[in-house]
Amino acid sequence: MYNKMTRISCVVAVLSTTVLLNATDMTKAYSMPDASKLIEKDLLKPAQKYSMPKGCISTDKDSIARGKYIFHNLNGKKAKATPPKGLAKFVEKKGKDGKMVKKPKQYGNCVACHNIEGAKGAGNIGPDLSKYKATFIDTKTRDHAFVYQKIADPRIDNPNTHMTVNLTTKLFNEKEICDIASYIVSEKK
Ligand code: HEC
Repeated sequence: MYNKMTRISCVVAVLSTTVLLNATDMTKAYSMPDASKLIEKDLLKPAQKYSMPKGCISTDKDSIARGKYIFHNLNGKKAKATPPKGLAKFVEKKGKDGKMVKKPKQYGNCVACHNIEGAKGAGNIGPDLSKYKATFIDTKTRDHAFVYQKIADPRIDNPNTHMTVNLTTKLFNEKEICDIASYIVSEKK
């Protein structure tokens, strides 16, 4: 009898605690962000076709050096060598409080998926881009505009691509896409 009573009062105690907890309005205890706004921000914009700017592909050694640096590095914090002329390791970005803060510049890290001359520990998710000029450009299999579009928004060529989108996402600007493309199609040792 004693045992039974203890059990009943225990159940009552648990039940009343549950009711109490449920009655507390927890939504006021923390701020809830508008989920639809967050999702919208994360969604990629639709695939976009671009025309290559005039004089985009160049044999200028600074342009090729910038393209190479972006291709082989992840970001300004991780990059060891000094960046070439016209490329920064850190950029000013607006922080949450509206103030400008210095942030490492995001680079391409294209070597995560592509091998190319001089790449260290390159991935093989994407095609090997070594000897690209001789293999693809000189044989007219690809042209400069294809390379530009592929880097700017690869989804035009392949809607199901695993490659990163670079211009539509504003990760890089037109000039930087031109630098990277110039590097890929350049003659290498
Ligand atoms: C997550 C993997 C991945 C990353 C990162 C990546 N790519 Fe790709 N890339 C691919 C795949 C896969 C293909 C093959 C075509 C396709 O599926 O879109 C490709 C194709 C290409 C091609 C076309 C080759 C040809 O002629 O067929 C070029 C050029 C290229 N990538 C350049 C780049 C550059 C430059 C970067 C860095 C800004 C980069 N890729 C980053 C996966 C990647």
